[in-house]
Amino acid sequence: MSLEVEHVPSADHPGRPRDEVHALPSYRPGRDAAQAERDHGITGAVKLASNEMPEPPIPAVLAAVTEAASGVNRYADHRAGVVRAALAARLGVSPEQVTVGNGSSGVLQQIFQTYVARGDRVLFPWRSFEVYPIYTRLAGGVAETVALDARHRVDVDGLIAALTPETRLVVVATPNNPTGTATSTTDLARLATAAGLGTILVVDEAYREFDADGDDAIDELLDNHPNVVVTRTLSKAQGLAGLRIGYGVGHPAVIADIDKVALPFAVNALAQAAALAALEHPDEIAERVGRVVAERHRVEAALRAAGWDLPDHRGNFVWLSTGGRTAEIALELERSGVVVRPFADEGIRVTIGSAEENDRFLSALAGAWPAD
Ligand SMILES: Cc1ncc(COP(=O)(O)O)c(C=O)c1O
Repeated sequence: MSLEVEHVPSADHPGRPRDEVHALPSYRPGRDAAQAERDHGITGAVKLASNEMPEPPIPAVLAAVTEAASGVNRYADHRAGVVRAALAARLGVSPEQVTVGNGSSGVLQQIFQTYVARGDRVLFPWRSFEVYPIYTRLAGGVAETVALDARHRVDVDGLIAALTPETRLVVVATPNNPTGTATSTTDLARLATAAGLGTILVVDEAYREFDADGDDAIDELLDNHPNVVVTRTLSKAQGLAGLRIGYGVGHPAVIADIDKVALPFAVNALAQAAALAALEHPDEIAERVGRVVAERHRVEAALRAAGWDLPDHRGNFVWLSTGGRTAEIALELERSGVVVRPFADEGIRVTIGSAEENDRFLSALAGAWPAD
């Protein structure tokens, strides 16, 4: 990233944005089905590009949101205290250990704002969730990355070796986006210990619920590692992506620091009502998650039968290592009405959708691009 070209204010572009902002490309969200339909002159496209749930929210959530809508002339509770308490009860921690934010992206942004200043080091595996480098750059921090291993897993020893006294933050997504691989709490505990109390380790568990039998960073790390903060979201398993609510769990003093930088009323009234309703119906949520995981197994089996070598996925998406063929394959899928998330020259992430959507993806892929 070059910060050398300073912005010169003009009538076309007034103001002097910070160098970090000036150098940053504008955020581009994944393409949606309507865009693909317009671009390719097709109808009935499906979006498997943003790791969303294929089913609409559960009825109790819809009812709660409808009821809460009549009160939106009032500000919501700034701290979302009732939601924090409900989360704490469900997770078996104290309410002082819980913060909530505008999606877990919002919580992550607060964490970066709390800990990273110009020149500070932020360490994370790569490839991983795209906001980590963006938030690092925005804060003026320096990103240190450690490549995933050959099986697309986080290289924990590599991360430990890359720690420096200037490392303020380490961020590990488990399951990792976009490769779906999980990191054990044994390895994360080693990383937290090696990082030390002056460095916060963020364990980003946005997809935790899809790995029901997997390790649980809240249960297994927080008691012995006060420098760990676990972030989770209600966007994925609970299907509330459009409402924006996520949370962070950690040491009360750390949570209090993170809370200081919260945008006022960051979690809106509808999101708070929806979250409470979702938390009251864990069985219905688990059923939906179960359907997605069963579909993932079916899709994986079909892909393996077609010759694809897949990572050990634990989320609601699969990763195809398409290398140099990535752009062509993604375009071909899109022309067939299946919008996926390509990462140039590396691979394609495909969200698990409904059975019908997944079949569309499988036949589009088989038709155009059988595996090597
Ligand atoms: C690893 C990871 N963390 C966090 C998020 C953020 O989700 P949200 O901001 O909707 O809570 C995502 C979303 O795709 C993700 O993949």
